[in-house]
Amino acid sequence: MAALLLLFASLLISSLLHVSGNRLSVDYYAETCPHAEKAVTEAVRQAAMNDKTVPAALLRMHFHDCFIRGCDGSVLLDSTKNNKAEKDGPPNMSLHAFYVIDNAKKAVEEMCPGVVSCADIVALAARDAVALSGGPTWEVPKGRKDGRISKASDTQLLPPPTFNFSQLKQSFSQRGLSTKDLVTLSGAHTIGFAHCSSFQNRIHNFDATHDIDPSMNPTFAARLQKVCPKHNKARNAGSTMDSTGTKFDNVYYKMLLEGKSLFTSDEALLTHRRTKELASLYANSQEAFNEAFVKSIIKMGSLPGGQEVRLNCRMVR
Ligand code: HEM
Repeated sequence: MAALLLLFASLLISSLLHVSGNRLSVDYYAETCPHAEKAVTEAVRQAAMNDKTVPAALLRMHFHDCFIRGCDGSVLLDSTKNNKAEKDGPPNMSLHAFYVIDNAKKAVEEMCPGVVSCADIVALAARDAVALSGGPTWEVPKGRKDGRISKASDTQLLPPPTFNFSQLKQSFSQRGLSTKDLVTLSGAHTIGFAHCSSFQNRIHNFDATHDIDPSMNPTFAARLQKVCPKHNKARNAGSTMDSTGTKFDNVYYKMLLEGKSLFTSDEALLTHRRTKELASLYANSQEAFNEAFVKSIIKMGSLPGGQEVRLNCRMVR
């Protein structure tokens, strides 16, 4: 009986330890690697100075990491002879700036080897990317663990730009994220660039009766058609996500309300009263958007996954 009780107690303790081991906290590295955040910030700052496309890439990377197997750095793993990794799946072909995470990891490994996870570095880099673009900043809860699995086929779990509202809602709710999180996190489309292929469906052969999506502002659509003709040969052609593509502001929502968004998934946010009201609130108040964005990205960034700290973000040992 006593042995059974002892076994039960030790099982309970180990399960509690497991839970608390995965709990994130803002001072997670306070003792073990106090200068980790500074090193990441510096790597992001350096890279962004040389390449203005870096911040948007890092923010999107965090989203794509978290939406597959939780925020576990799985998006960073390179393909191997026997495994095609997430980063080589179709929606991730346009992800870039992985070298920034490598640089940051190298710097933290020199300070405190084997302590800081790659997934945490991605979350920190996303925060720094937003702040560097003129957006809000926040304390990032840390303590994520890196995973060992990364499969290109899993990238079909990422919401494509052609999704309608109920598909988006489902994709987010499957990860514990609300429709408010959906509207708020879509505001990340205030920075960055989209290739023609991501919004082609709205500007050519939209449906049987319309060439252009009728919910789109016609002048805006005509401008996009010029950049992205029907038989587009320029693979790198496209558009910035809003008219201030390197600035983290609320112009995305202003344009959204004017029918000047790029994706079906953006326009979908206007198809329900409550989500449209939220978009209007953010269009009218940068502060309301900033405050909500911080809450939602911390929530998205807390999706659990992974079990170890990788030494090299690109490969498992
Ligand atoms: C709601 C569902 C979402 C869909 C369907 C979606 C889809 C897309 C697509 C298709 C692109 C353009 C890719 C290209 O053509 O190269 C893009 C870009 C981007 N997305 Fe999203 N996205 C969504 C949510 C998010 C979220 C939650 C974030 C971050 C919190 C985010 C951040 C970004 C950023 C920053 C870019 C620009 C990337 C760059 O310039 O390199 N997106 N998104």
